[in-house]
Amino acid sequence: MFVSVVWLLLGAVGVSATSQFDPRWKHESPWNKRQDSAPVQDPTPVQAAAPTPVPDKSSFVSTEGPNFKVNNSNFKFIGTNAYWLSALNSDEDIDHVLGNISQSNITVVRTWAFNDVPEIPENGTWFQLVANGTTSVNLNETTGLPKLDRIISMAQKHGIYLLLSLTNNWNPLPLDNVTNSTTSSILRRDVLTNNSLPRNSLSNDYGGMDAYVRAFGADSHDAFYLNETIITAFENYTTQIVSRYVNSTSVLAWEIANDPRCNSSIGATPTCNTTTITRWHARIAQHIKKFDHNHLVSSGSQGFFCADCPKVFQKTSPPPSRPSPAASRRNKIEPLTKKRILQERKEARKKTRALKIQSEPPSGGVRVRGKWVATPTRRQDDVGMGSAFDGSTGVDSEDILSIDDIGFGSFQLFPDQNQYAPDDPNLSAFNNTLQAGLDWIKRHGEAGQMFGKPITLTGFGLVTQDNAPSFVPFNSTVAPFANDQIGNLTFNATQSPFGVTDAQRDDAYAQWLQQGIASGLTGMIQYQWGQGNLTAVDGTAISPTITENGVVPVQDQNGISPSDGYSIAGVGQESAEGTLQGAIQQFVPDA
Ligand SMILES: *[C@@H]1O[C@H](CO)[C@@H](O)[C@H](O)[C@H]1NC(C)=O
Ligand SMILES: *[C@@H]1O[C@H](CO)[C@@H](O)[C@H](O)[C@H]1NC(C)=O
Ligand SMILES: *[C@@H]1O[C@H](CO)[C@@H](O)[C@H](O)[C@H]1NC(C)=O
Ligand SMILES: *[C@@H]1O[C@H](CO)[C@@H](O)[C@H](O)[C@H]1NC(C)=O
Ligand SMILES: *[C@@H]1O[C@H](CO)[C@@H](O)[C@H](O)[C@H]1NC(C)=O
Ligand SMILES: *[C@@H]1O[C@H](CO)[C@@H](O)[C@H](O)[C@H]1NC(C)=O
Ligand SMILES: *[C@@H]1O[C@H](CO)[C@@H](O)[C@H](O)[C@H]1NC(C)=O
Ligand SMILES: *[C@@H]1O[C@H](CO)[C@@H](O)[C@H](O)[C@H]1NC(C)=O
Ligand SMILES: *[C@@H]1O[C@H](CO)[C@@H](O)[C@H](O)[C@H]1NC(C)=O
Ligand SMILES: *[C@@H]1O[C@H](CO)[C@@H](O)[C@H](O)[C@H]1NC(C)=O
Ligand SMILES: *[C@@H]1O[C@H](CO)[C@@H](O)[C@H](O)[C@H]1NC(C)=O
Ligand SMILES: *[C@@H]1O[C@H](CO)[C@@H](O)[C@H](O)[C@H]1NC(C)=O
Repeated sequence: MFVSVVWLLLGAVGVSATSQFDPRWKHESPWNKRQDSAPVQDPTPVQAAAPTPVPDKSSFVSTEGPNFKVNNSNFKFIGTNAYWLSALNSDEDIDHVLGNISQSNITVVRTWAFNDVPEIPENGTWFQLVANGTTSVNLNETTGLPKLDRIISMAQKHGIYLLLSLTNNWNPLPLDNVTNSTTSSILRRDVLTNNSLPRNSLSNDYGGMDAYVRAFGADSHDAFYLNETIITAFENYTTQIVSRYVNSTSVLAWEIANDPRCNSSIGATPTCNTTTITRWHARIAQHIKKFDHNHLVSSGSQGFFCADCPKVFQKTSPPPSRPSPAASRRNKIEPLTKKRILQERKEARKKTRALKIQSEPPSGGVRVRGKWVATPTRRQDDVGMGSAFDGSTGVDSEDILSIDDIGFGSFQLFPDQNQYAPDDPNLSAFNNTLQAGLDWIKRHGEAGQMFGKPITLTGFGLVTQDNAPSFVPFNSTVAPFANDQIGNLTFNATQSPFGVTDAQRDDAYAQWLQQGIASGLTGMIQYQWGQGNLTAVDGTAISPTITENGVVPVQDQNGISPSDGYSIAGVGQESAEGTLQGAIQQFVPDA
């Protein structure tokens, strides 16, 4: 029932997804909970993993053509993001969060496996000191990597797989080249105005590429991809993490970086291009594989395309076919071209325009045999493909996917922060957002079938009106929609409202999930989980003074999980979770 309603909606906006829907998924039941999870025990914190017999190869997630396999079954999942797991103040809280996620039948959590600091902090978790051209990891039992051990053990206990990111493209500081034009906005990490959120509150406050760039005295973001000293330092961290968890079956895969690209708040040199980013991926993926044969490696990029681009790894003929059904389903790899993208957009626009005319006949048109003609049209000039397709970010997801050591494709969907397609004047703002997401998902699904590797949507989210005050873009330290008064970071009523309603969010999420299922995605990970009733400690990211919408003095000693504008905590959480359930439930056995 739910499915057919969605097909109608998709039909109404001109997407023919039905043809790709493969009803066999329904009977394979790969989306349900892991089978090998330990029985649920009492919620006592698990200690760091004791030496256990090395698990059988089949208990690690692997790939077979465009599918994930684990324990000899297909594996598909609905997941959620919780970048802040390492910032929680107690092991009970980690247990509580992962237990709740598991209870809602979510099987994958994506989180940060890095927490870099330029100096040893007074409070809170940190994994690596990156300072003055050297690095060292923190092995302190309470504040360092042993905490990540416990996160992984508890994931195992709750039957959850972790997708672990090793660094972040984004680590802005207020004094980077961030414009100060939004003067009415709060600098969420500005020590000068005393408004700073505690470290680790925002997803871009865990260190990352620019933390290395600064500490090694380089002056461009792309030094991270090119400077031998910095590459070696990052490889060093990577070695320590992946070899530490090489035998853990609760690690779904390694994600090399969140959203890697040429630019950040520290700019790139003009020579940075897709070749730079692709070659770096090949090097790091190979490095990880050297120390960890058990786990898959993925990029973590936004999934941007580069049509008509020179390739390093991508071949335009299919790989030699193997006698497996997956291989025989593979299509020929057609290079993505600008011509094709613009043609497809033109056709899509024709359809939306026809629909619009049907519903509201335009005044300037003449009816000829039941068709409206000669209505004023917007000329589709050669507008270019936009940054999601032209390689200007330095990401060529197809070339990256062609790297042997990259096990599966990843992409993200954040319409508030990236433009995936030009706006269609025939659609409302919300429908443009919705449709751009559907197209983006469909295109990545097609790439997966073409390349014969699984494709996972590793983060998708929309900022709601309720969340607008706490929204801080990934590339920024500024909350553009927050009120400027210290201690009252509520929505600034003088600004035009920003964000979608909760109902629109749920509608978009439901349709995107359906499209992902229809397009053969192997997993979709919502951004981001929200959790209350956490241990609040002053000076940490879960502090008694932080509420859903910012820093507000409250008496409530119960902490809430950090958010950079996408949390589903609070009003609307049930319906948002319900939306995810809708997708999960379609794949339980005999549904
Ligand atoms: C989780 O899945 C089980 C088994 O399919 C189902 O009974 C339960 O209602 C689901 N939980 C939620 C919160 O939907
Ligand atoms: C880095 O060097 C500066 C200047 O010598 C020094 O003040 C600072 O403490 C050093 N930082 C660390 C973490 O060692
Ligand atoms: C590698 O990491 C170790 C442990 O943190 C550190 O002692 C060592 O200096 C690092 N080596 C390099 C080359 O950064
Ligand atoms: C670990 O860190 C905690 C908190 O900073 C500190 O109290 C403790 O002494 C450290 N342990 C060791 C062995 O250094
Ligand atoms: C962040 O990215 C957006 C585009 O998503 C851009 O408009 C904005 O200027 C960027 N902000 C900073 C501080 O770089
Ligand atoms: C932004 O404002 C801060 C604080 O007033 C100032 O220190 C900084 O130089 C400004 N940055 C730019 C790029 O203008
Ligand atoms: C890497 O960066 C460091 C620090 O900026 C610099 O000293 C070194 O020369 C750079 N190495 C290369 C190969 O560019
Ligand atoms: C992982 O298992 C291998 C045996 O296959 C063993 O040699 C290695 O020490 C184990 N690593 C860890 C971190 O437990
Ligand atoms: C900031 O911008 C200026 C000029 O636009 C440039 O010279 C400088 O290198 C930039 N700084 C960083 C940290 O990107
Ligand atoms: C990137 O730049 C290099 C030269 O700096 C060039 O050889 C290469 O073809 C470029 N890659 C792309 C995809 O344009
Ligand atoms: C816009 O999206 C809504 C919600 O999915 C849908 O009901 C409506 O038909 C769409 N409108 C247009 C013009 O496509
Ligand atoms: C560290 O925590 C203590 C006690 O919770 C607090 O008083 C102090 O201000 C915190 N330090 C920082 C730098 O936040």
